[in-house]
Amino acid sequence: MFEIVDRDGLGRLGRLATRHGSVQTPALLPVINPNNVLIPPREMADRFGAEIVITNAYILRRTKSAGGSVEGDVHNRLAFEGPIMTDSGAFQQHVYGDVDVTNGEIVRYQASIGSDLVTMLDVFSEPSHSRAEASAGVDETLRRAKEAAAIKEEVGPDPFALVGVVQGGVHAPERTRCAQEISKLGVDVAAIGGVVPLMESYRFRDLVQVVIASRQGLSPHLPVHLFGAGHPMLFALACLLGCDLFDSASYAKYARAGRMMFVDGTWRASELEHRICECAACAKRTPAELAGDERAIAEHNLAVSFAEIGRVRQAIKTGDLWELVERRCRAHPALLDGLKELRRHASWLESFEPLSRHSALFYTGSETVYRPILHRLRTRLQERYSPPRRKVLVMFPEGEKPYMARQAAAMEKVERVCNAHFLVKSAFGPVPIELDEMYPISQSLVPDQLDLEVLEASEVFARQFLAGAGYEFGILWEGDATLEELSKWREEPTPIDWILQRVRATADMQFGRGAADALLAGKVDLVRSKNTGRVRNVLVDCRHILSMRAHDGFFSLRAEGGKALHRAFAKPALRVVVDPETAEFNRAGKNVFAKFVLAADANLRPMDEVLVVDPDDALVAVGQCLLGPEEMAAFDRGLAVRVREGLPP
Ligand code: GUN
Ligand code: ZN
Repeated sequence: MFEIVDRDGLGRLGRLATRHGSVQTPALLPVINPNNVLIPPREMADRFGAEIVITNAYILRRTKSAGGSVEGDVHNRLAFEGPIMTDSGAFQQHVYGDVDVTNGEIVRYQASIGSDLVTMLDVFSEPSHSRAEASAGVDETLRRAKEAAAIKEEVGPDPFALVGVVQGGVHAPERTRCAQEISKLGVDVAAIGGVVPLMESYRFRDLVQVVIASRQGLSPHLPVHLFGAGHPMLFALACLLGCDLFDSASYAKYARAGRMMFVDGTWRASELEHRICECAACAKRTPAELAGDERAIAEHNLAVSFAEIGRVRQAIKTGDLWELVERRCRAHPALLDGLKELRRHASWLESFEPLSRHSALFYTGSETVYRPILHRLRTRLQERYSPPRRKVLVMFPEGEKPYMARQAAAMEKVERVCNAHFLVKSAFGPVPIELDEMYPISQSLVPDQLDLEVLEASEVFARQFLAGAGYEFGILWEGDATLEELSKWREEPTPIDWILQRVRATADMQFGRGAADALLAGKVDLVRSKNTGRVRNVLVDCRHILSMRAHDGFFSLRAEGGKALHRAFAKPALRVVVDPETAEFNRAGKNVFAKFVLAADANLRPMDEVLVVDPDDALVAVGQCLLGPEEMAAFDRGLAVRVREGLPP
C-alpha cells in the first residue's frame, strides 16, 4: 500500500494507497476539529492541495455519546470524499492525564465510521519519563498494537490501514525496540508519537535523536508519520530523517493566537507593519486587516505549510534535500542544534546515501563537512584507497576545480625534481589528486573563506589519512620555493600515468579495494573524449569493461567488467541475489523488481553498480540498484535494479 517513487537519502517521494484514493508523500494532514470546522476539508483540497485530512475519533465518539449526531461514515460527517485518518485519544491522555476509552473500543469505533487510517490507542510517553516508565509504556503500547492488528483481521477482507505508534520517550533503546516490534505486527503505517512536548519546547536535538532511534528500528517499507509536527520550518529536517506524513493543528492553533507561520519562524500578525508574504490571504489584505482575521491567518498558515511540502518534494526529486535542510535549520538556534546532532549519526545516515546526485553539493556552513556523503569519502579513502608508491607527498591548498587540471603546471615542475604523489587539502578532507572528478569533489561549491572550525577539521581529516598512507615526507605546496625543499628527494624519474591512476583509484573507491587489479588485468585501452580528454570507456584485452560517467566520475559496469568482479570478490560482495524463477528474465536484460530480491550485500548503496546473481551465485546480469540493501529485501513493490546487460546462459 506504500510505494517509493523517488528518494534522496532517507527522504522519499511515495504513494500511499487508501480506500478513498491515493496520497502523494511527503504529505501534510491538516487536523479538522469536528466540533469547530474553521476551513472545510473540501476547501483545503481545492485551495491548498490537501489530499488527506486527520480528525480525532476520541472527540467524535464523545460528541456522539453526549447525544450528538455522529453516526455513520466520517466522510459524510466531514463532507470529504478523500482519505481520512483518525487519531485515537492518546494525545488527550497527554493533555488531560487520562481517557475514558479502551484501545479495543476506539479501534472498533474508528473502523465503524469508515476511517481510512485507524490509529491504535498508544501510551503517550512524556520526555520526563524515566527509562523504566518509558519501557512499561512501550510494553503496553505493543500489547495494544497486537490487539489492534487482531481487530483489523476480524474486520474483514478490505479493512482500514492500521497505524501503529512508536513511543519510548527520549530513551533511544526503547524507541528502537518499540519500532522493531511494531514493524513485525503487520501495521500499515508507523507513527512516531510522544514528540509534541519536544517540539513545543524547541528541543530539536532531542527530536532528532528520537526520530533517528525510532527510524532505526522501523522496516523501510512502512510510511512514517510524525505526530504533531505542524510547523513548516521542521518539514525538511523531518523528511531528511525518513518521515513521510505530518499532521498539523498548528495552522489553526497559531491562527487563534494571531501568529503567522513561515519556513523561517513565526511572527505575530499584529506586529507586522509591512507585507512579507504573497499568499492569497496576505495579498488581498493590509497587515492590519490580516491581524484581526483568524481565518485569513489560518489560510496563510496552510498556504505556507503546503508550499513547503511542495518545496521538500521538489528537493527530493532534484537531490538537494540536504541543502534545503541546512538552510532551514539556520532559522532558529535550536534547529541548528538539531542539524549539528546529525554528524553523530553520520555512519548510519551514510548507509542511505546514494552513490552520487545530479545536483552539486553546496557548502552552507561548518555542518556541511560532516554530511554523510563526505563521511563516506573519508572512510573509503581509509578502507578502499591505495595511494601510488611514492615517498614524497605534495599537498595543495584548496583551490579551483577540477584540481588536477588547475595544478597541472605545478605537478609537472615537481615531477621534474622528484617522484611525488599529490593531494589537495580540501575543506572536506584530503583528496588524492587523481580522484578530483569523482562525486562530490568537482561537483561541489565551497566559499573561498572557510570557518575556523572547518580548517581545523580539515587538518584532523588530513592527519587521519596520512597516518596510514605510508609517505616518508609530506610538504605543502607554496610555489616554486617548495621545489628547492623537494630537491633533497631527487630520484630517477618514474612517471605516473595519471589518467590510468584515476581509473584505478576510482575503481577501488567505487567497488572496493582490489577492484582495480581485478578489472584491469590485461592490456588496458582508455577511450577518451575528443572534446574534454576525459576517459569515456575502459577496454581490457579489447573487451569493454567499464564506462566512466561524465556527471559523477563513477563507472557504469559492463557485463565483461561484472564477470571480472564476480571472479575476484567472494559473495556476498557487490551482489543482489534474485529469485531463480525470475533470473531468466534478468539474463534477457529485464529489470529486477524488489519483490524478487532474496538478499543484497549490506555494503551496497542506492545507485551502486551491482552484480545480479541467482542463489547458486551464477552471474545473471549487471546493473544499477535504485534502493539500499535493506530496502531491496523489504519492499514488495517497485524497481530494485535497473539492468544494463543480461548474461545469457
Ligand atoms: N498526537 C500527538 N502526539 C500523539 C501521540 O503520541 N500519539 C497519538 N496517537 N496521537 C498524537
Ligand atoms: Zn501569507
